[in-house]
Amino acid sequence: MSQLIIRGGSRLEGETDIQGAKNSVLPILAATLLTADQVELRGCPRLRDVDASARILRALGCEARWEGENTLLVDTRQVQGCAVSDQLCREMRSSAIFLGAILARCGQAELSYPGGCELGPRPIDLHLSGLRELGAEISDAGGVLRCRASRLCGREIVLSLPSVGATENLMLTACGASGITTIANAAREPEIVDLQDFLTACGARVFGAGTSTVTVEGGRPLHGCTYTVMPDRIVAATYLCAAASAGGEVFLRRAREEHLSTVTAVLREAGCRVCSGRGGIACTREGGLSAVRPVRTAPYPGFPTDAQAILMAALLKSRGATVFEENMFENRYRHVDELTRMGASIRVSGRAAVVSGVRSLRGAPVRCTDLRGGAALCVAALAAEGETLVSELCHIDRGYEDLVRDLRALGANIAREEAELPA
Ligand code: UD1
Repeated sequence: MSQLIIRGGSRLEGETDIQGAKNSVLPILAATLLTADQVELRGCPRLRDVDASARILRALGCEARWEGENTLLVDTRQVQGCAVSDQLCREMRSSAIFLGAILARCGQAELSYPGGCELGPRPIDLHLSGLRELGAEISDAGGVLRCRASRLCGREIVLSLPSVGATENLMLTACGASGITTIANAAREPEIVDLQDFLTACGARVFGAGTSTVTVEGGRPLHGCTYTVMPDRIVAATYLCAAASAGGEVFLRRAREEHLSTVTAVLREAGCRVCSGRGGIACTREGGLSAVRPVRTAPYPGFPTDAQAILMAALLKSRGATVFEENMFENRYRHVDELTRMGASIRVSGRAAVVSGVRSLRGAPVRCTDLRGGAALCVAALAAEGETLVSELCHIDRGYEDLVRDLRALGANIAREEAELPA
């Protein structure tokens, strides 16, 4: 069993680079299909889902190969298929994002229905109804989605909630539709802006990302480009919370506060000093932390659900009580039981969790329950006395290129022990 061994209780001090954003690179890799050309994607994080996306592209007849550490070269001139196997779809949770891109490129697409995940059900009804509005016929038999469109036509689509994945899928499909598509009540996340910037670099006409209305003038042939993926704001939030938890001073190169302002605002309220500039964010925590006003997760620009567990871990030893309210996913307090094993005091009731600060935390054997919940255990471990052993690392590996490398660069005492391979 692979595990992290974290010895807590010492201050952090150091600098690290922030990897490229997982949630940007996945839709961008799907978007390369729209170009029928060569794309050089820089700042690609080395993650399993990125490799799975590259395998999907290869299965469709494209070339995708790494050059150096973080550059992925993709050549989508030769597309030979429009179906993604069940096995590949299962490997990558966000495989649904390929639906719109394959449909726009080939006029048809076949993908397995993505199931739920550890956060609860992950419906894609908004993706499918939007694709239908653009002219796709979709059938769903035996867990396989078959989409076909002899002609995609732009029109106004109103999303009933600002889904990130649906907004991205529809942006990609709309690039292949004739005329103008308007997506109203679109998600406003920075990753949507990154996707727009990538599409624009390929010659697409896409406007409004970052606001609630995204407009696509479709039907233009797109060309390849060289593009650098934005830094991962949730990885940056993790390391800011690590500094808040352990104390000390860290500098995160490439991190951009404009993507993270709800998180930095809470950290300042809790007592950290956070400064942007010199191409990154610095965070210092000298004294103790205080509890903060209720933290309610919401679509961007609200507090990100992906940072909820991580912030909660940073506040376990704060003075007073903080209320969290999780409004995005059903099953997002699974880290609480594990944090409790370390001595945390957290009461969960429905969507709410109340964290009452404790004097000390103690190291314990804990298991990652999901990606950000796993990162939260590491953040808490940095402030715990003694040794914490974190297992089930497959979750953390889905979103952090090398957590040990980064936390060590920030001065943490952390090591990884790999499972012995069976003889
Ligand atoms: C993306 C992020 C994920 C983040 C989430 C919310 C990626 C790869 N993942 O996920 O890390 O936690 O945004 O910020 O970018 N919904 C529906 N029907 C749909 C689509 C969504 O009911 O068709 C619901 C979901 O169940 C959820 C809410 O809408 O409750 C938000 O989901 P969405 O914004 O689509 O998240 P993802 O794109 O899946």
